[in-house]
Amino acid sequence: VDQTYIMIKPDGVQRGLVGEIISRFERKGFKLTGLKLFQCPKELAEEHYKDLQSKPFFPKLIDYITSGPVVCMAWEGVGVVASARKLIGATNPLNAEPGTIRGDLAVQTGRNVVHGSDSPDNGKREIGLWFKEGELCAWAAVQEPWLVE
Ligand code: GTP
Ligand code: MG
Repeated sequence: VDQTYIMIKPDGVQRGLVGEIISRFERKGFKLTGLKLFQCPKELAEEHYKDLQSKPFFPKLIDYITSGPVVCMAWEGVGVVASARKLIGATNPLNAEPGTIRGDLAVQTGRNVVHGSDSPDNGKREIGLWFKEGELCAWAAVQEPWLVE
């Protein structure tokens, strides 16, 4: 089963969107396996976004992600990585479709409220980066037969 790392960025927390965003993944039918509010240290932000190190906006991105608490989440389900990216919408919220999180709730790339892993490999990598082993929870969801035939 696939796993993805979803993070509500500091603007999402400050704007009171935590419940709204978690709800969208819950209602879709994915399974939450990790959840915490966390003040991200600079080193972790830099490691998480290391592929963007050479971009001109990198310092601003690190300031943004470390500017307040984030909500770290691990979600599980068949196809969850690509599906979560669809639920989140395009990087630039002005290009994101209505109905997506960014399309409904944000107006600027530098304040796009949520992160989602872009591949199953990065899902695993990022969950390992943001969570310690004992913080994740494997559990059986009773609704599963009503979600998957
Ligand atoms: P994430 O789910 O956060 O990884 O977003 P993404 O996969 O849609 O975009 P990408 O990985 O390319 O960029 C990571 C994050 O860097 C974006 O979500 C933005 O917060 C930020 N970012 C990307 N491009 C720009 C930019 O041109 N300007 C600014 N200020 N921030 C940017
Ligand atoms: Mg990305």
